[in-house]
Amino acid sequence: MAKAAVRERWSNRPLFIFAAIGSAIGLGNVWRFPYLTYEYGGGAFLIPWIIGLIVLGVPWMVMEFGMGRYFQKSAPGLFEGIGKKWEWLGWWPVFVAFIIVTYYSVVMAWALRYMFSSFTMAWGVGQAGAEGAGGFFFGEVLNLSGGPTELGGLQWALVGFLVFIWVLLFLIMFKGASVIGKVAVWTVTIPWALLVVLLIRGLTLPGAVQGLNYYLTPDPTKLGSPDVWFAALSQIAFTLSLGMAGMFAYGSFVAKKADITNSAFITSFSNCATSFFAGFAVFSTVGFIMQALSIPVGEVSASGLGLAFVSYPVAISMMPAANALIGVLFFLCLFFLGIDSAFFLSYGGVISPIMDKFGMSRVKATAWVCVVAFLVGLLYTTQGGLFWLDMMDRAVSFYGLLITGALACLVVGWVFGAAKLREHVNETSDIKVGAWFDWLIKLIVPVGLLFVVIYGGFMKDLAAPYEGYQVGALSGSHIIWLVLGVTLVLSFVLQAIKTKGVSGE
Ligand code: PHE
Repeated sequence: MAKAAVRERWSNRPLFIFAAIGSAIGLGNVWRFPYLTYEYGGGAFLIPWIIGLIVLGVPWMVMEFGMGRYFQKSAPGLFEGIGKKWEWLGWWPVFVAFIIVTYYSVVMAWALRYMFSSFTMAWGVGQAGAEGAGGFFFGEVLNLSGGPTELGGLQWALVGFLVFIWVLLFLIMFKGASVIGKVAVWTVTIPWALLVVLLIRGLTLPGAVQGLNYYLTPDPTKLGSPDVWFAALSQIAFTLSLGMAGMFAYGSFVAKKADITNSAFITSFSNCATSFFAGFAVFSTVGFIMQALSIPVGEVSASGLGLAFVSYPVAISMMPAANALIGVLFFLCLFFLGIDSAFFLSYGGVISPIMDKFGMSRVKATAWVCVVAFLVGLLYTTQGGLFWLDMMDRAVSFYGLLITGALACLVVGWVFGAAKLREHVNETSDIKVGAWFDWLIKLIVPVGLLFVVIYGGFMKDLAAPYEGYQVGALSGSHIIWLVLGVTLVLSFVLQAIKTKGVSGE
């Protein structure tokens, strides 16, 4: 890879920070964080979560931004810069990012589908809606089949929304960082504003306080359990959108003289503040569902996709007024939360690396990635799509992210040299990091990430493989290992390909 002629740049620092915040804030802030907090000790969970943020999240983000800026390259070029034999370690997260965006965009298509269904409250109003919401999601929207091998037909409504999403992403991305930054200002502030509306709606519903008690009442006895630390660290890793190549590229668009450390602080703290805030909107609504349906909290599906696409619709049906409006706003909020994560994954994660390595023009690389990601995404719009989505999610947004993140920290820390990175970052940053930073990158962050992989991943998946997901002779777990193995091999293949590599404009 030759040095790029002129590196593209963010127009100014706030736009970079908005783009980075937008990539971090996503569906995970709304459906994952509040639920984990409730599950793992309420208010007490905030302690390991904040420790994880400071000890693991911020240094890791400084590392990704800093390395991107140092080499002025996206992930593969940057690892090649550390040493020719490391380039694969830049490609592996590119595959991770690509696979994530193929299904992330489909979840956004669900959100759009629901936004339109909200106008007519298609799953029903009142008690009928509460009873019909689950059937609407699995039956009407997904038309779910019995397993991953029964693909059935494409769900055309979802395909249509998916086309719309990829056209939109193309339009946002084909001019590069300068437009992405400007769009991000909107895709961050609009969902913030919508969350405020949803919070006010949630807090004024009967039962809200009870829900908030579940969200935040501290149970310090849980803090001794490794499960809680697993949950906190895995959430920090996921929510900051690290380990997927994109932040290296976003860092590489930062001018040589601009701040790194302070930007990493602002990005990671804004993201986590958004999570904390979203928890109030979600749990006040959970409290309302409990009261309206007279059910205990355990029966409200407050985790995962079930929260966004089943429980929240139940709440919307039961609301005393303006149901359709709240429905439209909620799903619009999800859509906006998702879109900047999607262009981050596509552009920083995939397009920028392809431009760097193959010297392909931006328009061409963007068009290719959009088309191929759309075609792969069709798999998740089939009747068996949800099963595939679930397996891919485990493979890449859990294992892929954590493993590539840990390896990246080890190689940067020990081979490139954490001290060299620290000096580079300190040269221009408002906040100066001390020598302790070296040990965070060399040891603490990788150990923390590997703890999550082994404790919450291998130990769990090896004990109970994904059996409900049989595809021929392969269990769901086999497929997960296969995806990781194949993408690793392909990363070495890409490393072996020699190119002239001038970054195209
Ligand atoms: N950080 C995003 C969230 O919290 C998730 C995400 C994962 C975004 C992967 C981009 C890539 O929802």
